[in-house]
Amino acid sequence: MLHAAECTDIVRHGDKPALAALIAKARLAGETERAALFNAADAARRPYYGKNVYFRGLIEFTSYCKNDCYYCGIRAGNRNARHYRLTAEEIWACAAKGYALGFRTFVLQGGEDPWYTDARICEIVSGLKERHADCAVTLSIGEKSFESYKRYYDAGADRFLLRHETANDAHYRLLHPPELSLAHRKQCLYDLRAIGYQVGAGFMVESPGQTDETLAEDFLFLRELQPHMVGIGPFVPHHDTRYAGLPTPTADFTLVLLSLLRLMLPKVLLPATTALGTVDPLGREKGLRAGANVVMPNLSPVTHRKDYMLYDNKICTGEEAAECLQCLSRRIASAGFIPDFGRGDHADRVEKAARA
Ligand code: SAM
Ligand code: FES
Repeated sequence: MLHAAECTDIVRHGDKPALAALIAKARLAGETERAALFNAADAARRPYYGKNVYFRGLIEFTSYCKNDCYYCGIRAGNRNARHYRLTAEEIWACAAKGYALGFRTFVLQGGEDPWYTDARICEIVSGLKERHADCAVTLSIGEKSFESYKRYYDAGADRFLLRHETANDAHYRLLHPPELSLAHRKQCLYDLRAIGYQVGAGFMVESPGQTDETLAEDFLFLRELQPHMVGIGPFVPHHDTRYAGLPTPTADFTLVLLSLLRLMLPKVLLPATTALGTVDPLGREKGLRAGANVVMPNLSPVTHRKDYMLYDNKICTGEEAAECLQCLSRRIASAGFIPDFGRGDHADRVEKAARA
């Protein structure tokens, strides 16, 4: 039997074998045990965030990438991928639309695209901040040097999302080409933290080669890093990758892992991801009930959405930002949560700001 108190103790203090055993057990948990786990996770975030669900406006601004991650639909080697880049003005226009809809956090995400030099990224970030001083800007643009990260931070970027993907070296090798390394990815996360960003790490669930042991290492790494955000979502195969044809997972295991992460890091900002909504039409609502507290509706121009196809059957690629938002906030409210368009900073940052 899984007991919430025991789960909490293991995720916070257990060693790798204990974590792997817990994850194996949780994978096989029956309905009643899962419901108890979800309830415990839901209760764990209440003291910090109540029933609020934070909305972030996602702007996917480039589908070019110099990397060739083996699982990713927009990888450099995919000759069938269609590419686009947004200009600074187009990005600001997406944000202006989002601002009018109520968003106060914008997430700029893209492949690692050298066309966006540091100077261009800084111009985009500072331009956003000049237009919307009350908003938080999150970047998700991959691995850069300490100096580059520092420049973006000084230009006004507040947060950075960089999933570590897996904390196990051999598993990392199964997912990435030799020029990319786990050591460098981790170093980037430590650099971002040292600079002062609110940092997000994370991984795909049921990615090729993932085991209970590699997941235990993910938990240990996250426990050590203590990120402000953790992004996890099911791995969904893309037809133009070497992992085409693998089965698409259900939402089940991701939900259990969301709960365990919430118990380990009660203050973490935890998205119910688009990938979760892709594998299950009610995936995002289920994710929120399992302990997640962030959603990231798409503000990218509809004309380009189908070209940011990381995996097959990605949802919300046909709707305008406003439609997408209305639909999602209605669904979230009827699931019993409170849509919150504020900046939605990590609880520690809110507390620190209040003390200052
Ligand atoms: N280039 C940036 C980076 O490396 O962090 C951000 C863009 S990258 C496409 C964002 C995330 O998409 C990755 O961290 C990965 O976990 C996720 N992703 C890529 N392919 C996926 C797939 N087939 N299924 C699920 N998630 C995927
Ligand atoms: Fe770079 Fe996917 S390989 S974003």
